[in-house]
Amino acid sequence: MIDTAWPTGFERMLARVKATATSVTDGFPHYADPASGKWTTSPAGDWTGGFWNGMCWLACHATGDERYRKWALEWAARLRPRATSDTVFRGFLFYYGALLGAVLLGDPQAREIALLGARSWVGSFNATAGAFPLGAEAEEASDVGHGEANVDTVQGAALLVWAAGEANEPRWRAMALSHARRHIEFCVREDGSVCQSASFDPATGRMLRRYTHKGIRDDSTWARAQAWAIVGYILMHQWTGERDFLDVATRTSDWWLAHAPADRVAFWDFDDPAIPDTNRDTSATAIVAASLLKLAALVPGERGRAYRAAGEATVRALVAGYLDARGILSHGCYNRRLGLATQNELIWGSYYLFEALSVLTGKLESAKI
Ligand code: GLY
Repeated sequence: MIDTAWPTGFERMLARVKATATSVTDGFPHYADPASGKWTTSPAGDWTGGFWNGMCWLACHATGDERYRKWALEWAARLRPRATSDTVFRGFLFYYGALLGAVLLGDPQAREIALLGARSWVGSFNATAGAFPLGAEAEEASDVGHGEANVDTVQGAALLVWAAGEANEPRWRAMALSHARRHIEFCVREDGSVCQSASFDPATGRMLRRYTHKGIRDDSTWARAQAWAIVGYILMHQWTGERDFLDVATRTSDWWLAHAPADRVAFWDFDDPAIPDTNRDTSATAIVAASLLKLAALVPGERGRAYRAAGEATVRALVAGYLDARGILSHGCYNRRLGLATQNELIWGSYYLFEALSVLTGKLESAKI
């Protein structure tokens, strides 16, 4: 191990946070051109806006520098109108965008905004299906609505578990648990691999089909589907202590570790026949790297130590091969089907690598958020 990899990587990413905060004024950083470093922004935060605030919250927690809190709060305030968007991705937006400020810094405004997001989202729960549907304004370009489910929404349920405790609303916690459990049936295959999406009958809750929006085929394993399941079930176990979530987290993590390339950086879809002559996805890999560090703190003994070693090796591979001197993590693959941002810096990939580096430099407890 290069002893300096963690602090060097952390400092580079911190510099990128500063550069972004002082250069982006309209909208939320979404994805950037790795050559110029120029961000394409999303005016209202799309599904990714919270990750940018999340980096600012992490930076404030790690350094104590109040400029980062100021930036995090400015962007968190811009999320307020999103509380009523008809999208399940309110989970991502308000967990990373606001809850982090409440949990890491005890910030009262962050707490209020996180609760606003949670309180508004619970209204879209389908009690018959026991799940939150994607909603009519979800990010996916097609197949959105009230009978569609995605594995990348399990993580957001953790927002509701936290909010249930804060607002003394045990019903919200029950909804979150049910949502996460339904998605095991919807998206997690017997062998521990994960399918991105499923349709269900909104009137009966019955699952109708499994499919993907962004993978190569409906029966393939799109790298981010696997990664979102891993972080989603780890967080749900972390926040609830429920054993079945830990079982899913370890099964999906073990599948990843058994199928990832020897150099640890995943290709965009594990089943692309063009591998190795195809896109990597550093964002999926960063999600998993940060998750393995959390899992290591939740699983005792030799197994936990093995997850920690795998997490460290994965972070090392990203820092050595894909993080440049300006703190730009290149080679994230946003949407290969649309040819959109297929070799770019992606705000969520950067968030998770920054989170992992915060843990590895001792600035953040591994299973705190
Ligand atoms: N919809 C989340 C993703 O593209 O990863």
